[in-house]
Amino acid sequence: MKPYYITTAIDYTNAAPHIGHAYEKVLADVMARFQRLQGREVYFLTGVDQHGQKVQKSAMAAGLEPKDFVAGVTEKFVALWDKLDIQYDGWAATTDEKHVKVVQHILQTLHDKGQLYKKSYSGFYSVRQEQFLTDKERGPDGNFGEEWGEVVELEEENWYFKLSEHVDWLRAYIKSHSDFIFPAFRTNDVLNALENSVGQDLSISRPKERLTWGIPLPFDERFVTYVWFDALTNYISFAGYLAGEVGNEELPEFAKLWPSEAHVIGKDILVPAHAIYWPIMLHAMGFSDEQIPRLIVHGWWNVKGQKMSKSLGNVVDPNNVSDIFTADGLRFYLMRDMATGYDADLNDERMAMAYNKELAGGLGNLLNRALNMSHKYRGGVLTPGSYDDEVNAALRETVTSAPVRYAAKMNGWGIHEGIAEAWKIIDHANQFVDGTQPFKLAKDAEQGARLDSVLYHLAEALAHVSVLLSPIIPEACKKIQAQLNWQPAEGFALGDLKWGLLAEGHQLGSPSPLFPRVELTAE
Ligand code: MSP
Repeated sequence: MKPYYITTAIDYTNAAPHIGHAYEKVLADVMARFQRLQGREVYFLTGVDQHGQKVQKSAMAAGLEPKDFVAGVTEKFVALWDKLDIQYDGWAATTDEKHVKVVQHILQTLHDKGQLYKKSYSGFYSVRQEQFLTDKERGPDGNFGEEWGEVVELEEENWYFKLSEHVDWLRAYIKSHSDFIFPAFRTNDVLNALENSVGQDLSISRPKERLTWGIPLPFDERFVTYVWFDALTNYISFAGYLAGEVGNEELPEFAKLWPSEAHVIGKDILVPAHAIYWPIMLHAMGFSDEQIPRLIVHGWWNVKGQKMSKSLGNVVDPNNVSDIFTADGLRFYLMRDMATGYDADLNDERMAMAYNKELAGGLGNLLNRALNMSHKYRGGVLTPGSYDDEVNAALRETVTSAPVRYAAKMNGWGIHEGIAEAWKIIDHANQFVDGTQPFKLAKDAEQGARLDSVLYHLAEALAHVSVLLSPIIPEACKKIQAQLNWQPAEGFALGDLKWGLLAEGHQLGSPSPLFPRVELTAE
């Protein structure tokens, strides 16, 4: 079976990472880990978008050369992904020579095929969005809205890509491939945007007088490549596209990876970049319909209903959140509080609740109780024995039926629902302790066999939970397994989750708090 090839958007290096960037990487990392858990080989590509006017502007403002400026910002992204346990296989940095060669090769090919032409254009240009604006972008008052930032009037010559030649193909492709965009409700936005863009071609160059920080056009030295054309190409250049032609042999084998099953992106960059430019670029390069990648479009994290922005001063630094609640605490909150595809609001109280009540109070407490009682009453040795009753059977049913429902939700990008399925085990096991009252059983010599079975059921349930939650909270799950003194064998997959992971006579490890409580002081 072909590896699961998953990518994220590559992040602009004009400013430090914020929690929106972190969400997307965690989402992709959770899916990558989940697919590995299903037994699939995975290739996870992420990286940084280092060229373009935004970056050139920020570098100038910082008094640095663009290359030194992006090196500094890139380091911050790399350090954050490390801190948040983002386990990627490939790193796409667009200043990488391997990428530059592929972009230039593609441009030359499109040029030779007659897909590019030069013309002069005058109009209004948004520096922030790096695009020319038309009257459609004007607000009801006739002005260009705040989202466009500084708008200047420009006349310039540029190279254009014949996007309009392929619009009919794209419309038909979208209509006949209902799974091209997830969630499907976003497809209408794309079809509408496509109707509005009929007849328009895409400017794929910027004159060097205005922008030097980009990939030079191979056939006209007065221009550099438009940043989106450069950036979108990362998904194929780092997957080994044209590796033989340009000497990128160390990259993966393209035919093995492509097409990507998941380009994970935010809703703001669906139209026009990912749903219009990108499939048309691939189509024009000669990719078949079967080689068009799938788009997974997530929503935005807002703060009190407002967009995060430097000017509002409400940008949340994921480093700070992770310092308070640990990397797993942040990963868990981001995954449980957003339904993939929809927006959500960042909320300090919910963050604290997710950590203190669910992770510490629900999961951590269960582990602690189970291990402490086993050590206290049985020296930490499990002896399931032959005792059974309906209460045990009910817990076993919850544990053994969870993986199928969990996998169905996770495969459909319902990460928060996957978590909820795993959590049913935790809730049930906590009720099981309250209901069976092991501390009372321990006082009654005749209840010894039942106590053994109760302690076994708790440890076994925790072993299952540590597998199901491992894509979401990997560090905590490793700690649970260390405390249980049990580890899934090399190559263990979801399908291997059967009752009886822990053997008769198994010696448990020692308990220690999984999620030490965080006291929050009101500001
Ligand atoms: N560089 C382009 C992407 C090129 S992909 C070929 C870009 N970069 S970005 O840094 O602005 O955004 C990177 C990703 O973070 C995008 O998918 C974007 O949607 C996502 N997010 C940025 N802010 C966000 C939130 N507030 N919430 C969730 N995701 C957000 O666009």
